[in-house]
Amino acid sequence: MPYTVTLIPGDGIGPEVTAATQQVLAAADAPIQWEVVHAGAYAYQKFGDPVPADVVASIKKNRIALKGPLETPKGSGFRSANVTLRQELQLYVGLRPVKSMPGIDTPYKNVDLVVLRENTEDLYAGIEHEIEPGRVISLKVSTKEAGARIARWGFEYMRYRGRRQITCSHKAAVSPLADGAFLDAFLEVGKDYPFIRQDSLPVDNLAMALALDPTRFDVLLLQNLYGDILSDLVAGLVGGLGVVPGANIGDGVAVFEAVHGTAPDIAGKGLANPLAVLMSAVMMLEHIGEHKVADRVNRAIHDVLGARRYVTKDLGGTADTATFTQALIDAL
Ligand code: NAI
Repeated sequence: MPYTVTLIPGDGIGPEVTAATQQVLAAADAPIQWEVVHAGAYAYQKFGDPVPADVVASIKKNRIALKGPLETPKGSGFRSANVTLRQELQLYVGLRPVKSMPGIDTPYKNVDLVVLRENTEDLYAGIEHEIEPGRVISLKVSTKEAGARIARWGFEYMRYRGRRQITCSHKAAVSPLADGAFLDAFLEVGKDYPFIRQDSLPVDNLAMALALDPTRFDVLLLQNLYGDILSDLVAGLVGGLGVVPGANIGDGVAVFEAVHGTAPDIAGKGLANPLAVLMSAVMMLEHIGEHKVADRVNRAIHDVLGARRYVTKDLGGTADTATFTQALIDAL
């Protein structure tokens, strides 16, 4: 029996990279049957709603989705479709493993980080108010409950995966209540996990320390905005957004997606690197217990990158999406 997985092709390069991923998974005999639904700018143009009800219904039914990047239609009055999905489905964990890959020339080797981003609060609550023209208040929402929820998820993940050190990052000196609540929750939950090394660091210090030596970190626990920014920073340490996968996880539901966006500058040109979405699909395969297929796809990725013959432009090569995808299929 194949698994039914919701597929959201997305906007911009989304349909190109999700189609490439589907081809590779089919070649690897992944037991998956796709249920395609549309969200984002495409859905807004077609149905007048960036997150139509059938999208949430499909994910709630299947419990698993693979998602291309979504554009938030500017001036539509709608909030980001990504934020809506994360909040509607309470996908409170943004999980982003960032790892050095073979054949990609970067200043640091052996980077192996996991970014855990709290996905439901912070400035993304979207509470902004213009008191008078030119004077705006934007509220950062932070509850101890949400901080504790992701901290506990993180510690359990680390225990299961054998990860040894977690760093909670904050700006508690500037925002003692909001960031303080997050930090307090981390410290409290951490008492249940004395066998995991724990520390905390102001987020600006963390940014510098990551640039100096990312190999001294293991798991990073961050609020929503810091997590958004630092995810891109650490992506840059391993070759860019083309090679960083991700998952948004809630209780009993998970949406897998790359960290990158719709890349409007290269959309429709057949140049996009499908790796980040493919690697997100590999995370999905592991999540549902299809480890053998996941391993096969991973080995194909490592072989093709290591050989450096067919690599996309963002990684310094000349291959287009189709050539790179075919190379992966041949490697399989
Ligand atoms: P972006 O990630 O789309 O692009 C940044 C740069 O990285 C561009 O130069 C792009 O060409 C390059 N890039 C990204 N992915 C690539 C890939 N797979 N292969 C090769 N090059 C790649 O970020 P940007 O420009 O800030 O956002 C564009 C749109 O995407 C916006 O509408 C934004 O809201 C949306 N977005 C959606 C996300 C999601 O659905 N999860 C996440 C981030 C942005």
